Amino acid sequence: MTWLITGGAGYIGAHVVRAMTAAGERAVVYDDLSTGVAERVPDGVPLVVGSTLDAERLARTLADHAVTGVVHLAAKKQVGESVERPLHYYRENVEGLRVLLDAVTAAQVPAFVFSSSAAVYGMPDVDLVSEETPCAPLSPYGETKLAGEWLVRATGRATGLATASLRYFNVAGAAGPELADTGVFNLVPMVFEKLTEDAPPRVFGDDYPTPDGTCVRDYIHVVDLAEAHVAAARVLRSSPGRDLTLNIGRGEGVSVREMIDRINAVTGHDRPPAVVPRRPGDPARVVASADRAAAELGWKARLDVQDMITSAWEGWVRLHPEAVRT
Ligand code: WQD
Repeated sequence: MTWLITGGAGYIGAHVVRAMTAAGERAVVYDDLSTGVAERVPDGVPLVVGSTLDAERLARTLADHAVTGVVHLAAKKQVGESVERPLHYYRENVEGLRVLLDAVTAAQVPAFVFSSSAAVYGMPDVDLVSEETPCAPLSPYGETKLAGEWLVRATGRATGLATASLRYFNVAGAAGPELADTGVFNLVPMVFEKLTEDAPPRVFGDDYPTPDGTCVRDYIHVVDLAEAHVAAARVLRSSPGRDLTLNIGRGEGVSVREMIDRINAVTGHDRPPAVVPRRPGDPARVVASADRAAAELGWKARLDVQDMITSAWEGWVRLHPEAVRT
């Protein structure tokens, strides 16, 4: 099959492109390069520069490349920014998806994998979040992902498009230094940044109802996440009309304090963190039940937090050589 990978020049998308081509699938990248980087697209994979709001360009791309499946990752993904600019997020993430689904159904593309997020759950009050846990997003970003799932599912039901919404938990790591996340918006790069500045990493609150008082998350290596897309693509190919919603996590909780300890150890630092006030809207614990993905896709994460930190650090040092002190 030929898969159109929107957002394929982004951090996660570039990993999905590599996993798909390594699995023998043909890939075409569609990316507006607003945050994506053309150099992340491997040689031999066509790159179409365009917006998901551009119906004409999408239709032409689907036809020109005889696309038979879509993996849709192109989206805005900063929670804080979404609070400031909700209309922008709804336009990019919901209207962009609607326009894309319109083109996909008109071209009779049979399979669609949608990049969703654990942000759809909001503040879950359970030990392990299953796909049945009620969705109550806390930010416009999370709302656009939930609305996106609805759009995808409704389109599948109406047209027979096989769909999978993958709810990513906390993504980290890289397949190689050149593919590392360049944004500094999540815990791992934010700790790297502090260590590089020779400052203490920050813990946003240590009075949560968790074993060490800091928030607990389910960190997943981007290479494992990319493999989940390949597995989903294969399931959709062989089951027209399928409608999957799956958590993509490891099912293991790691606290902020544990992450910082491990980052210190991996990077050769010894910087105790500084506890600062809570960041508004952070849930105490968000850890996936990964059972459904295992059952439906035969997929399971293989890499651990050590792998994530080591590979992310190699990418960080490539961009910030001053991070390594002699
Ligand atoms: C993790 C934990 C922070 C930085 C968000 C989105 C989610 C997904 C991933 C997607 C939290 C704490 C962080 C720091 C800290 N986005 N922290 N000190 O908030 O779980 O998830 O990003 O596209 O949808 O909601 O991830 O990495 O920002 O934070 O204590 O310097 O680390 O409070 O508990 P989060 P995160």
